[in-house]
Amino acid sequence: MKCILAITTIVALAAGACNKSINVKSQTDINTINECEKFQGNVVIDGISSLDTISIDNLKQISGDIIIQNMYNLQTVSLGKLASANSLKILNNTNVYKVDIPSLTKVSDFQVIVNPNLKEMNYKNISSVDNFQIINTYVSELGAFTAPSVENIEVLSNLQLVKLDFSSVGKASGYINIANNGKNANITFSSLTDVGGNASFADAAALNINKLSTIADDFSLYTNSFKNLTVGQLTEAQKSITLSGNKFTSISFPKLKDIGSSLNIANNTNFKSIDKNTFPELTTIPGSIILVGSFDNITFPSLSTVDGLVGLSGKGRLSCKDAEDALSAASNIECELETIADDSESDGDEEKSSNSKSKSSKSAGVSHSVTFAAFFGGAVALVAACL
Ligand SMILES: *[C@@H]1O[C@H](CO)[C@@H](O)[C@H](O)[C@H]1NC(C)=O
Ligand SMILES: *[C@@H]1O[C@H](CO)[C@@H](O)[C@H](O)[C@H]1NC(C)=O
Ligand SMILES: *[C@@H]1O[C@H](CO)[C@@H](O)[C@H](O)[C@H]1NC(C)=O
Ligand SMILES: *[C@@H]1O[C@H](CO)[C@@H](O)[C@H](O)[C@H]1NC(C)=O
Ligand SMILES: *[C@@H]1O[C@H](CO)[C@@H](O)[C@H](O)[C@H]1NC(C)=O
Ligand SMILES: *[C@@H]1O[C@H](CO)[C@@H](O)[C@H](O)[C@H]1NC(C)=O
Ligand SMILES: *[C@@H]1O[C@H](CO)[C@@H](O)[C@H](O)[C@H]1NC(C)=O
Ligand SMILES: *[C@@H]1O[C@H](CO)[C@@H](O)[C@H](O)[C@H]1NC(C)=O
Repeated sequence: MKCILAITTIVALAAGACNKSINVKSQTDINTINECEKFQGNVVIDGISSLDTISIDNLKQISGDIIIQNMYNLQTVSLGKLASANSLKILNNTNVYKVDIPSLTKVSDFQVIVNPNLKEMNYKNISSVDNFQIINTYVSELGAFTAPSVENIEVLSNLQLVKLDFSSVGKASGYINIANNGKNANITFSSLTDVGGNASFADAAALNINKLSTIADDFSLYTNSFKNLTVGQLTEAQKSITLSGNKFTSISFPKLKDIGSSLNIANNTNFKSIDKNTFPELTTIPGSIILVGSFDNITFPSLSTVDGLVGLSGKGRLSCKDAEDALSAASNIECELETIADDSESDGDEEKSSNSKSKSSKSAGVSHSVTFAAFFGGAVALVAACL
């Protein structure tokens, strides 16, 4: 048996089968690949309806990509010894439920996208990866992720996934985008200090970004359910900060001094007070400030420069007069607030009390419709991307 295997291996190598990219047509091609420990080139397995199992358990190393896609009948994938690959892409396999990659440590692009029945994905130690994307699967846990730095991380629409432990990651040179995973998702980026692109965290029940200090693009928190958050080390957000649709009652950015562009806070239904601990050090906003919600009180103790428009709307105890006082650093303020009288309950019988609608504008004549449209457009695009 060993002898036969050895002979077929020699035959395969003699034919250069381990050295040539292959577009797999049948099980026979898979058998051929499985005779290689090292493979130079790419392996593409695309739309072969006769295959329900892919086992390539002798392959340890591939210089190129392994792409397994559009396989309706595929149930399991096993790459038992595969330690390194340029890319591993498992895309659009409706019925695959198990992917075993226990030895994988080094891969440049790791993409597992649209495998809606994939329950078990067994990796034990991904220690080197550039792009890591897990989108639309049924996994409830991820394997050990031990990479100290990455380019991008994107984990979206894995509705069973509740534990996202990326505590090894200190730096992301690109973006981080986490959204629409399990209801009780606990997202841990406890070592992360720098993000080179956007950093967006959505739909988390718990989020640890305690060391995050600089973000080179937009920072967003959408529809998270945690009750409070301290973004304790963030000193600089080089573009915008957006907090939208979250459930928190309080949030704090104790060290944040500069926002490179705009600040958007909208639809966080339990967030009623931007208090002295929310943005204690924030001094400069070159863009706009948009506040939509039921605010009772706002204050920005250190704010000295706001170059763009300030737009306020919603219903709370805050009046336009208070808002203008709190935002005296701004010269363009568009305020449209429905103010609940101080002695009435905020979410009870407002109608019979002495509410007032105030509308004011302090302006150098700049229209703000573009700002609103751009912000809301972004939110809609994000929601669409998560579906
Ligand atoms: C495989 O490719 C390498 C270079 O990529 C070459 O040195 C080697 O001779 C090739 N082996 C076979 C069996 O074709
Ligand atoms: C997904 O795979 C199925 C076969 O299972 C194929 O019919 C369909 O076109 C693929 N979808 C995309 C977007 O490639
Ligand atoms: C993970 O893999 C890396 C690289 O192969 C290795 O250095 C490290 O010891 C492994 N860690 C564990 C826990 O196996
Ligand atoms: C979230 O997960 C981290 C580690 O993965 C753990 O230390 C922490 O206690 C968890 N938090 C909650 C609220 O479960
Ligand atoms: C960053 O996110 C914004 C939306 O907040 C988006 O318009 C922009 O294209 C993103 N940039 C990159 C580089 O992904
Ligand atoms: C934040 O929430 C945690 C529990 O989720 C609580 O223990 C802590 O006191 C809260 N901190 C503030 C400032 O509200
Ligand atoms: C805020 O909520 C309102 C009403 O639910 C919705 O129409 C609007 O699109 C939301 N805006 C944002 C930025 O999420
Ligand atoms: C708003 O908050 C500031 C600072 O925390 C406080 O001094 C002020 O009394 C508050 N105003 C109202 C109306 O609650």
